[in-house]
Amino acid sequence: MKMNPLGRTGLRVSELCLGSMTWGTQNSEAEGHAQIDRALDAGVNFIDTAEMYPVNPKSAETQGRTEEVIGSWFARTGRRDDVILATKISGEGYQVVRDGAPISPATIRAAVEGSLKRLRTDHIDLYQLHWPNRGSYMFRQNWTYDPSGQNTARVLADMEDTLGALEREVERGTIRHVGLSNESAWGTAQWLRLAEAGRGPRMASLQNEYSLLCRLYDTDLAELSVHEDVGLLAFSPLAAGLLTGKYQGGAVPPGSRMTYVADLGGRVTKRMPDAVQAYLDIAARHGLDPVQMALAWVAQRPFTASVIFGATSPAQLDLALGAADVTLPDEVLRDIDAAHRAHPMPY
Ligand SMILES: NC(=O)c1ccc[n+]([C@@H]2O[C@H](COP(=O)([O-])OP(=O)(O)OC[C@H]3O[C@@H](n4cnc5c(N)ncnc54)[C@H](OP(=O)(O)O)[C@@H]3O)[C@@H](O)[C@H]2O)c1
Repeated sequence: MKMNPLGRTGLRVSELCLGSMTWGTQNSEAEGHAQIDRALDAGVNFIDTAEMYPVNPKSAETQGRTEEVIGSWFARTGRRDDVILATKISGEGYQVVRDGAPISPATIRAAVEGSLKRLRTDHIDLYQLHWPNRGSYMFRQNWTYDPSGQNTARVLADMEDTLGALEREVERGTIRHVGLSNESAWGTAQWLRLAEAGRGPRMASLQNEYSLLCRLYDTDLAELSVHEDVGLLAFSPLAAGLLTGKYQGGAVPPGSRMTYVADLGGRVTKRMPDAVQAYLDIAARHGLDPVQMALAWVAQRPFTASVIFGATSPAQLDLALGAADVTLPDEVLRDIDAAHRAHPMPY
């Protein structure tokens, strides 16, 4: 398993990161534990979670269960030090967590304490802001994004206050490093500038959606990643399962994510199936598994620190872990570029 630097933290994370957001709903505690065991055996040292997980579906009753699954694995195995553990504080507006309160000095301490308790550990390696208080263009909001209502001074003051509170957690030893999620290039640059001005810790990573079908990261964020050593932690690299090909022809396999979330978060569009087919055809032409091609492609991008994939069965997990052994040759990369031009932004 290839290891990549996590920003300027000195930590090295496996290029595949185990996603966890189905543990506690689609997957049981025992299944979650088995996934961790298997992934660590394959050389993964990085697990991503969030205080709001699990999802599919989200609910007040299940919120926090995913962190508890990881916590009970630590308690059972004593292997806390074998894992670089990333979790997230929810941003403003998710009613189930703290009634939708924003990320602020008033909420960070309680959120950290809650995560530590569920995770049964005394520290979080990477504490991420799940989405910005001011909103985000991710999750298909890019189609109508209008930042003109944002108050610049308020946004910057909010960032400064948040960095101060994060700094106090670093000093307490509860969190080691910090990262962003669902952020923009402007936003990330402001967090970095404030850290350089001594207002708090430097963001180590940016967790945004990225896959063959979702390539918003390719331009300004890519440039920022490369120059600033803020690596991409790519989520939904299989486009929530679409790139496996299992939904082609309108199929909805029993128990699949689409049975819980019919439009897969806005990813089911008219142009999507043709785009998926183009990538399935490339994989078939080159004798590759489409799942492994999709994951290896994200891992090979020049700005990727780690690829956060998900699995709901041992077979899915094994197939994904096998992507660590796949290096896509230039002919495949050229075909992928051509398919991207033919099917840009299918959703
Ligand atoms: N920061 C954020 O806002 C954010 C947002 C989303 C995710 N994340 C993180 O990223 C992780 C991964 O996200 P994701 O689950 O959307 O990633 P993904 O890798 O794009 O999709 C994984 C899903 O695809 C299906 N799948 C995987 N392998 C398959 C195979 N071989 N055959 C058929 N189906 C297969 C499974 O769903 P089914 O079996 O249920 O169909 C699996 O749960 C999450 O766990 C979380 O840690 C972060």
